[in-house]
Amino acid sequence: MKINLLKPQSQSSETLVLFSYQTVATKNSGKVSKKSDTTQVILNHSEAEKKFAAAIEKKSITGRVLECVVFRGLGLENSENIVIIGLGKIEELNHEIFRKSATLALDALKNLNSAEASVYFENIVESQDQAPKYVQAFSEGLKLASYEFDELKSKKSEAKEKTFHLITKFAAEAEVKKAFQHGIILADTVNFTRRLGDMPGNLMTPTILAQEAQKAARGVTNLKVTIWDKARIKRERMGGLLGVSHGSVQEPRFIIMEYKGGPKSQKPICFVGKGLTFDCGGISIKPSAAMEEMKYDMCGGANVIGTMMAISKMKLKLNVVCLVAATENLVGPAATKPGDVHTARNGKTFEVNNTDAEGRLILSDALSYATELKPQMIVDAATLTGAMVIALGNIYTGYFTRNKDMKLKIEGAADESGELVWHMPLHDEHVKDMKGTFADLSNISSGKGAGSSTAAAFLEQFVGEGIPWAHFDIAGTGWAVGNRLNYCSKKGASGVMVRTFVELAKSFE
Ligand code: BES
Ligand code: ZN
Ligand code: ZN
Repeated sequence: MKINLLKPQSQSSETLVLFSYQTVATKNSGKVSKKSDTTQVILNHSEAEKKFAAAIEKKSITGRVLECVVFRGLGLENSENIVIIGLGKIEELNHEIFRKSATLALDALKNLNSAEASVYFENIVESQDQAPKYVQAFSEGLKLASYEFDELKSKKSEAKEKTFHLITKFAAEAEVKKAFQHGIILADTVNFTRRLGDMPGNLMTPTILAQEAQKAARGVTNLKVTIWDKARIKRERMGGLLGVSHGSVQEPRFIIMEYKGGPKSQKPICFVGKGLTFDCGGISIKPSAAMEEMKYDMCGGANVIGTMMAISKMKLKLNVVCLVAATENLVGPAATKPGDVHTARNGKTFEVNNTDAEGRLILSDALSYATELKPQMIVDAATLTGAMVIALGNIYTGYFTRNKDMKLKIEGAADESGELVWHMPLHDEHVKDMKGTFADLSNISSGKGAGSSTAAAFLEQFVGEGIPWAHFDIAGTGWAVGNRLNYCSKKGASGVMVRTFVELAKSFE
């Protein structure tokens, strides 16, 4: 897909995409308000105007949010087809609506079998401070919606390359250009992470995941990738990661990505991810229904790798480290058994009372290692608990932090990115529930319920005192959110939180 940012010009385009606000009937006349005259501003063409006026009269164009009306074969001087997308009420407009509108525009082009469109922001983006956000969101939406995972099919989809020109009088402004570029980088990295998540377990082993991180970082300035193999992981005393890997013939990997965009002395910010490339539950095996979906148990890892790629490509002025613990959780003869005790890198011991609660075990070592870097903050992402899916479904991502400043920063970042996050409880009571009988900790709670909070409480035991830390449980939102967000797959990885994490990183610049 090609996307260009242009100033208005008298070029013709096969398809025009226009926006319309919701038409509001005035009290006395029942006529539509001035704000619906979208098309007049752009076209100034009497034939087309007549058609639109008739359509408005018939209420087939109302400007309702995400309404999409297509006129094909109009034979106008400067275009063949016109697509009119509703933005809803002007006072309720936000950038997420542009992300979703982009999907409608792309679908309309596919249906029209049209290769090219000009998208006019002219009459809807009137002030310069709106332009960066809206243009960025629309280009993100286009790229995100264009993602298709068909590399494992012998017949590829025939989708032709589409070109979009985004037309705004602010196209040459530095802020708008930068936002546009960031939107492209973000969407490309989200699509990169989705591919990692969509790949089946046999083609996305810990070794391959590590290679993908190396490949992606090749040629990127100031970005270094180091991979630890099983022997090194053992030498580094990562008993959690090692213990989980015992059930598989696939070797674990520990992935370290370092980006140096800030002054040498500046402490890094640190992203940590669960890279469980397939989770069958281990000896405490999962039921077989939908078990194939557990290939996406590495999405936390993939999404922090993606975050790292975006940060380094945007050349943000700060130091960032990304750590991913990668392994399979299977049932081989050497697999960890219920009751086994392992020792994490920070010296704490835990008994594995349920081998399916493995994410927290591999993260224990990654968080211990992150702590040693004395970072400004640690954020981790993991498909950690089924309880998260029960609590928030696939709508909100739940996050846990006891740090007020982190909470503010996270809420701000999510507002900027358009992703939905919800602050979840984490209390000393949850910590108590994770006390072990034969070791320091148990990997499952002794209490009832609150499974996501007790999992977070377990993780907290490996984060150094005083380091601002937040844990994001993406079990519900990392996969199959297409019924909520039209630019995501119905069945497939979403790349959730990459956009929010990049915004969060920007707040440390
Ligand atoms: N990977 C799963 C969590 C998960 C469940 C992710 C559903 C996505 C969708 C995790 O390793 C797990 O199995 N957790 C257990 C923990 C329990 C045994 C304490 C769970 O949530 O059931
Ligand atoms: Zn599990
Ligand atoms: Zn898991």
